[in-house]
Amino acid sequence: MTRLRLEDLKQEISSHNHRYYVLDAPIIADAEYDALMRELQEIEAQHPEWVSSDSPSQRVGAAPMEGFTTVQHAVPMLSLGNAFDEDELVAFDKRVTDTLRAAGLIGLAEQVEYNAEYKFDGLAVSLRYENGMLVRAATRGDGLTGEDITSNIRTIPSVPLRLMGKPTTWPAVLEVRGEVLMNHADFEQLNIQQQRRREKVFVNPRNAAAGSLRQLDPRITAQRRLRFYAYGWGEVSVSEPSPQQDLLAQLNHEFPEPYATQAEMLAWLQRLGFPVSRTYAVVKGVEGLLSYYRRTEDARPDLPFDIDGVVYKVNYLDQQRVLGFVARAPRFAVAHKYPAQEATTELLGIDVQVGRTGAITPVARLKPVFVGGVTVTNATLHNEDEIRRKDVRIGDTVIIRRAGDVIPEVVGPVIDLRPEHTQAFIMPTTCPVCDSAIEKPQDEVIARCTGGLVCAAQRKQNLAHAVSRKALDIDGVGEKLIEQLVDTGRVKTLADLYTLSVEELLSLPRMGRKSAENVVKAVNTARHPSLARLLYALGIRHVGEATARDVAKHYGTLENVMEADEEGLLQVSEVGPVVAASIAHFFAEPHNRAAIVKLLQSGVTIDETVAATASSQVLAGQTVVLTGTLPTWTRDDATRRILEAGGKVSGSVSSKTAYVVAGVEAGTKLRRAQELGVTVLDEDALKALLGLDD
Ligand code: IVH
Repeated sequence: MTRLRLEDLKQEISSHNHRYYVLDAPIIADAEYDALMRELQEIEAQHPEWVSSDSPSQRVGAAPMEGFTTVQHAVPMLSLGNAFDEDELVAFDKRVTDTLRAAGLIGLAEQVEYNAEYKFDGLAVSLRYENGMLVRAATRGDGLTGEDITSNIRTIPSVPLRLMGKPTTWPAVLEVRGEVLMNHADFEQLNIQQQRRREKVFVNPRNAAAGSLRQLDPRITAQRRLRFYAYGWGEVSVSEPSPQQDLLAQLNHEFPEPYATQAEMLAWLQRLGFPVSRTYAVVKGVEGLLSYYRRTEDARPDLPFDIDGVVYKVNYLDQQRVLGFVARAPRFAVAHKYPAQEATTELLGIDVQVGRTGAITPVARLKPVFVGGVTVTNATLHNEDEIRRKDVRIGDTVIIRRAGDVIPEVVGPVIDLRPEHTQAFIMPTTCPVCDSAIEKPQDEVIARCTGGLVCAAQRKQNLAHAVSRKALDIDGVGEKLIEQLVDTGRVKTLADLYTLSVEELLSLPRMGRKSAENVVKAVNTARHPSLARLLYALGIRHVGEATARDVAKHYGTLENVMEADEEGLLQVSEVGPVVAASIAHFFAEPHNRAAIVKLLQSGVTIDETVAATASSQVLAGQTVVLTGTLPTWTRDDATRRILEAGGKVSGSVSSKTAYVVAGVEAGTKLRRAQELGVTVLDEDALKALLGLDD
């Protein structure tokens, strides 16, 4: 009775594991799962002789090892040839097509069918199953021999310890090949934890995955949230030929694979319980390959894990066999790489940049390096805390990352290459532009120049903000012109823009009459902004587009806003204490009031007839899930803004979720979003989506 119960429990728990980690569709609560596991463990404690290696209780538990033993691969683990550009890809397809046509395997006008897959950026491993049980796992090593990492692989919850399905359908031997990797979110979490424990911080998910697999103590590996994706196989010996197998192959017993194509083989592996990324696609000819490549490139920045390219494999296995191998790579497959998103270069210096609100951002000056398809000479270091955390020093060789269209950032130094006598970076105490003091409130991470509008850097950025599309929308005035006008001292505040004449502009270097006239025309069309636009244009801290609209709607006139006190401002729907204080503070400043008076004197009138337009409903009908702590918004703030934009806020992530907004210590919801491919936003991205970025 208990023995039967034990077998049932093993089955049931394994199936829940598979549902949770592979299908991402759990059907029981964690507590119920834990109860089943406890029951299993109790029976096993009473009957140690019943414990088997495929028991879900036996994932972790192996004792630390002295070192790794080597394993000979039954079938070598090959590498792939690369295609770095379209020409190389066309050449690959031509070679394949010519060979297959000559062999009579495809028609004269027929295109080759390929299975296109992600090229996962992790570590290749081979998992050996005998009679359905995982017996050995090995790294790729040199392709012929690898290291035995069985105890570590067993800790990866998505790797089946025993194949799924009826034992009669199991192949006698099955070596599954695939990649072990770590998701970005898990990598970030790991690094936070490593840092807290004052242990080694990993530079990227791949290194973290490698470090975790090479742990001699599987209990550590077990804590590392590794994932596995199957993409191929090594030795396969099907005990009995399956009906799907080609008749000739059956007779000759030549081909071990039970299916005819790469895509069908992947589907089979999936049925046996392996995680197979559902992103593969069967395509035809170069056109098909390129469209997969581009589609994947678009999806790449939002993927939960790193891929460094895509892999194309001739889909039909009989065609693969005819094509064969060269040296250590197959002729039937090729990797089509994306430009590297990371590169190393030398950190020549660290400058600080002053933002519109005086925020000081340290910027790395780099020896030019080609990364992510462009040459990068500057990268952000975010803030002083980040520099200290990463211990980045001038003279270091640093890793630069440029993912998608994101601003390039310094990931960290390569400590092993650090020259002697480097020194930790010290933030300047005065503004490099205006010499005012730089201050950093104790509980904030951002240091700020205290110069306000005295600081030319802040003035320039303030003007750039004021003329931007969502503010006064003066599109003839660009950054270069603002630069010139501020540097010559002609423009100090916004009002000065409104008194510019064509003649004056003509005296600026590289300014033609036509351009000068266009500037004046653009300025003139912006003489009657709505109150909301003007409030937004003033660049008051914490006042984004939506807040400006709310305040305008509430007060109706500029005078009213200028006279409002904090208490009154708190009555505005959606305005909290921080925003109220900021607005009141802004209008209490004599120089701000003076600037506004000057603005009105220079011929600007506010169009108070424009009723505050309802905030745009960018999230109409969409569901958003919040998780973790956001840097500046509370849960309520975020919820309110989402509702305002027409969205709904829900507590659980499903495939219907439009966005997951994740902050610090985001948990299972973030993981689930990444697994479901739901777009994940941080606070800034949410603000940008809502048009509240400033
Ligand atoms: S197939 C017979 N498919 O790329 C072909 N490899 O240079 C053998 N990789 O070390 C590899 N994703 O770790 C294949 N979908 C994929 C892959 C993939 C990543 C890695 C693999 C191997 C390297 C080949």
